[in-house]
Amino acid sequence: MTMQRIAVVGSINIDYFVESKRLPKFGETVTGENFFMDFGGKGANQAVAAARLGGDVTLFGSIGNDEQKGVLLDHFRNEKVNIDHLNVVEGISTGAAFIQLHNSENRIIIIPGANQFSNAIYAEQISKSLVNYDVFLLQLEIPLETLEYLIPILYEHNKTIILDPAPAQVLNEELLEKVTYLTPNEHEFSVVMNKQSEMANVLKKYPNKLIVTCGKDGVKFHNGEKVVNIPARKVQAVDSTGAGDTFTGAFTVAVSKGKPLVECIQYGTYAASLSVMKKGAQSGMPYQEEIDEIIKER
Ligand code: RIB
Repeated sequence: MTMQRIAVVGSINIDYFVESKRLPKFGETVTGENFFMDFGGKGANQAVAAARLGGDVTLFGSIGNDEQKGVLLDHFRNEKVNIDHLNVVEGISTGAAFIQLHNSENRIIIIPGANQFSNAIYAEQISKSLVNYDVFLLQLEIPLETLEYLIPILYEHNKTIILDPAPAQVLNEELLEKVTYLTPNEHEFSVVMNKQSEMANVLKKYPNKLIVTCGKDGVKFHNGEKVVNIPARKVQAVDSTGAGDTFTGAFTVAVSKGKPLVECIQYGTYAASLSVMKKGAQSGMPYQEEIDEIIKER
């Protein structure tokens, strides 16, 4: 099978990290250790993760016509992410994420900015060009109306639709039915599935489709016969930011190459294990050679 084309429709942010040994309580000031910026946004992260691993990737999304624009456009070109359809919006800032990093875990507040303009109007504008792609990668960091508009169209065209339901919100069953793969983490799983019942029962309801990432506990899915757990590699984590995005981006590349589902998940776990060993969302994302090393070791 030849490699299929990937379209990511999603958010683009600049990430502002502050790192501290202790998180402040309300009303308290603490002195941190480190401040840094990185490229972020779940859509952009997944696009870059997929492109670094050899995917043929186009990113659909919105940025502001602001001081970040030039840097972002250069960045996507360097990363070989096609941005021909990017929406540059006047009078609003590019999305921003404020990330507190502590003991390798994060807390994130996002200000959507231009991402709000990846809306139903934009979805309608891009819908004609989308038929040229095969695999679609979506998240929930742009307006839900965009997904509600696009998913039924893509489903009608028999496209492969991968939905990473982050940040989590309850989704209606009709939309979920049209998705090919759903990749929540444990927290997103309980929100999106509205705490239906035990994870094993819910996995069984969506065999070979619902893929739950559980951090160092690996990835769980139901293969039609039983629940399967693909273990995570044991590594020294310094920052989990973007690990889920790296998993989904890598998983998508493997899907676009027609690999069996277990291999796609395995590949995603290898990529995610490398991403947590470096700080930042996109800064930590691996290249194919690094994954080849892991495969060689095993
Ligand atoms: O998933 C990590 C991402 O969430 C960060 O890059 C930040 O921008 C937020 O979108």
